[in-house]
Amino acid sequence: MRQVALVTGASRGIGLAAAEALARSGFAIALNGLLDDAALRDAVRRLEAQGVPVMAAAFDVSDTTLHAEWLARIEDTLGPLTTLVNNAGVGVLRRGDLLDVTEESWDRCLSVNAKALFFLSQAFARRLVSRARPETLFHSIVNVTSSNARAVAVQRSEYCASKAAAAMVSMAFAVRLGPENIAVYDVQPGLIATDMTASVIETYRQRAANGLTLMPRVGEPADMGCIIATLASGKLPYTTGQVISADAGLLVPRF
Ligand SMILES: NC(=O)c1ccc[n+]([C@@H]2O[C@H](COP(=O)([O-])OP(=O)(O)OC[C@H]3O[C@@H](n4cnc5c(N)ncnc54)[C@H](OP(=O)(O)O)[C@@H]3O)[C@@H](O)[C@H]2O)c1
Repeated sequence: MRQVALVTGASRGIGLAAAEALARSGFAIALNGLLDDAALRDAVRRLEAQGVPVMAAAFDVSDTTLHAEWLARIEDTLGPLTTLVNNAGVGVLRRGDLLDVTEESWDRCLSVNAKALFFLSQAFARRLVSRARPETLFHSIVNVTSSNARAVAVQRSEYCASKAAAAMVSMAFAVRLGPENIAVYDVQPGLIATDMTASVIETYRQRAANGLTLMPRVGEPADMGCIIATLASGKLPYTTGQVISADAGLLVPRF
């Protein structure tokens, strides 16, 4: 019997790296992306080449009416889910003065980064708690929030607010699902080189080299994939509700 994971936002970036690392650990995987596009189909092919069962699950995570239906479809194809990786996320519509933030950008950040994460976790948890689960399989939710759950980036304040909300959702689900033996983790990436950060990553590379992070480099999606797969595989037993600061020491207090 193998573990089965749904990874949201897995067509590229951190989500794709997480899916690849989970596939290396033997998981069957449903790869979610917003669109059933070439990137998602390519991601499915890359994982199939690793010899694990894979399917595409293209849907908008912020449309909560789709959650239950998609989880059922995934289980019909891959078997009972053990793992949810809530990774799909969006940045702000425009970086800039907090005094100019629009409701549109606020609503989009909160909807995808926090509300979708809450209700997809709820739909996933409802399925798991309603059935007997083999004790030999590790069950978990791994949420990808951000260093910005704790640290203000004032030019992206609505993003920070959405990630702080997601971090609290992680803790709340950890409390609710602990008695069910379902672990919940909050991975908080720092500066990772993906499409989301492409316009600013060279600046951050310089700043990392100059001491912004304790280890002098920006992160790669594969770093995050390794952390997520380690957690989801149950390699940190007897833990739940933890924040993993995946940031090379960015937020270690110092002066
Ligand atoms: N990169 C960083 O430095 C960094 C730092 C801290 C936290 N994070 C967090 O890490 C997560 C992944 O970020 P990333 O850098 O890998 O981003 P990315 O390269 O921009 O990829 C985002 C992924 O999310 C998907 N997505 C976006 N909106 C969606 C929706 N409504 N429904 C379903 N899928 C959706 C995208 O799908 P499509 O390709 O179909 O659009 C894509 O697969 C995000 O939650 C982000 O906030 C990133």
